[in-house]
Amino acid sequence: MELRRLSIFIALFVLAFVAQCSEARHSMERREVDDIYDDVLADEASDDEAQNDADGGNDQADEDIAVNASIVTKPSSYNATVESTIRLACKVSPDDGSVVVQWKRNQNMYFFGTQKNHDIDISSYTKDSRFYIAANSTDLVITNVSRADAGVYKCEILQPDHPAVEHTLTIHQSPKIVRFTASDNGTVMEGNDLRLTCEVEGTPQPQILWSWEGNNGNKRLEEKDGEFTLNSVYIKNVNHQHSGNYYCYAFNGVGTNQAELKVTVLGKPRVHVHKNVVNSAVNIEAVLECFVKDHLASHIRWYKDGALIEDSSTRFNLITNGQNSTLAVTPATDSDFGTFTCEAENELGKHNKSIELVQNPVVEKLSVDGPKLTWTVRSHQPLEKIEIQLRDISGDGEWQPIDVPLPSTKSHEYEVIYDLHDKVQTGKYEASVRVKNDKSWSAQTDTAFVDIKELSSQPAPIQHASVYRDLNSGAHSERPVSIVLLSTTFMYLLVRML
Ligand SMILES: *[C@@H]1O[C@H](CO)[C@@H](O)[C@H](O)[C@H]1NC(C)=O
Ligand SMILES: *[C@@H]1O[C@H](CO)[C@@H](O)[C@H](O)[C@H]1NC(C)=O
Ligand SMILES: *[C@@H]1O[C@H](CO)[C@@H](O)[C@H](O)[C@H]1NC(C)=O
Ligand SMILES: *[C@@H]1O[C@H](CO)[C@@H](O)[C@H](O)[C@H]1NC(C)=O
Ligand SMILES: *[C@@H]1O[C@H](CO)[C@@H](O)[C@H](O)[C@H]1NC(C)=O
Ligand SMILES: *[C@@H]1O[C@H](CO)[C@@H](O)[C@H](O)[C@H]1NC(C)=O
Repeated sequence: MELRRLSIFIALFVLAFVAQCSEARHSMERREVDDIYDDVLADEASDDEAQNDADGGNDQADEDIAVNASIVTKPSSYNATVESTIRLACKVSPDDGSVVVQWKRNQNMYFFGTQKNHDIDISSYTKDSRFYIAANSTDLVITNVSRADAGVYKCEILQPDHPAVEHTLTIHQSPKIVRFTASDNGTVMEGNDLRLTCEVEGTPQPQILWSWEGNNGNKRLEEKDGEFTLNSVYIKNVNHQHSGNYYCYAFNGVGTNQAELKVTVLGKPRVHVHKNVVNSAVNIEAVLECFVKDHLASHIRWYKDGALIEDSSTRFNLITNGQNSTLAVTPATDSDFGTFTCEAENELGKHNKSIELVQNPVVEKLSVDGPKLTWTVRSHQPLEKIEIQLRDISGDGEWQPIDVPLPSTKSHEYEVIYDLHDKVQTGKYEASVRVKNDKSWSAQTDTAFVDIKELSSQPAPIQHASVYRDLNSGAHSERPVSIVLLSTTFMYLLVRML
């Protein structure tokens, strides 16, 4: 019994002794490890060998160091834009400069040391002077960030349990259009294909939007306009309407960028005339005009009833100025009226438009304002009859003629305003106008729609059924000119809406 108690006591004593010895050994070893670190820190950033030695010694030391430093910073994702400066945090505890950390990027070691009260140059470790350790911290700073800096950065405390924090650095780059090109350098033959390519870089990968500015303003290019790939658009079988400026817009949430490019489609010339029919009379000069839209120089010719008019002709005064051409004609007899054709020709083809030179009246610009019709008559010959043709579109559909009183003044250009109110029953009508002079009838105008409604209870001021305005003197008018102009604009709007 006594013996057993004694043996237990001895065993406990031995255990206590062993424990004490072991602790003494540990503290000795810790001092050794600290010495190693001090050496490393003394040499830091100046000696590659020191780094290697320290790294090598590290693994051994890990086995035995017992420390309780920890990392305060939580893992996070950093976004940085190209050329900016980013600071990756690694706050440690205790914060007294005693803790030794190493920074690694994708497993490459960048820095190995502790905090100092000045920035620490670590370029000998990183081979890159953009990296340093910020003063009084163990934070890693990267200046003039580049796309290649993206990755996982790890800050790790050198102690056996390896406390560490990992940050992910994502580099964002606002879109940059490297090159914006068009096939054939942007000068494409009609009928060929056009490919536009917009080379853009950025992170995240930018998206591209295309637009085009032709004759009708800036317009987004859509699926129906061409075939789209990641960074190009392919437009088949182009024609002159594809000429214009093309835009590449790149965006990725970080920023936007755009580039523009001019595309010219070469093709046959296109002739335009201001008027298709011109009224004149014997011994009255008429000036016929045409102009050519063309990217190549073209040659302009005029024909009378299909026969070429020589430049040297004395019966005509032909002036061509670049893309414009005017032909002055003074008819001497009835046979001098007829069809005049303006033709332009370039190396890709030719095109023509014709102008009729006539003695019958020409009726233009028929428009509607409520119950009022307005139109213009051109006739050098005296007018004999003005007639509105009216058809009830909801009724039997028979055309009804309405005689319009003739103007009292003599001119060769008249604006006629005719109020249908009180002349016909309320309803919806189609209207058209024709005019006869001492030679013959004009052509019938295109139809306009008229909606005749009940008069409002307020009695309207008494008005004549028709009003003439002499467009040449500009003086004779029964209504103030401004009102006429105003309502004409309004009438155009109405006509366009119909
Ligand atoms: C970083 O960018 C991503 C997407 O680009 C975004 O979701 C995230 O919120 C950003 N983080 C910070 C800290 O700005
Ligand atoms: C670092 O801390 C020391 C002591 O607190 C201070 O004197 C020094 O100005 C600090 N350095 C920087 C760059 O903040
Ligand atoms: C940033 O880096 C780029 C190359 O990556 C260099 O061309 C540029 O000059 C640098 N900028 C500064 C301010 O150092
Ligand atoms: C486009 O233009 C460049 C110079 O402006 C020229 O070197 C190149 O040959 C041209 N390419 C084509 C297909 O015309
Ligand atoms: C005008 O063009 C038409 C169609 O291309 C052609 O038939 C006609 O002969 C041309 N007229 C003249 C006068 O060249
Ligand atoms: C051609 O006519 C248009 C108007 O029709 C005018 O704007 C242009 O200046 C003219 N060009 C020349 C070269 O006369």
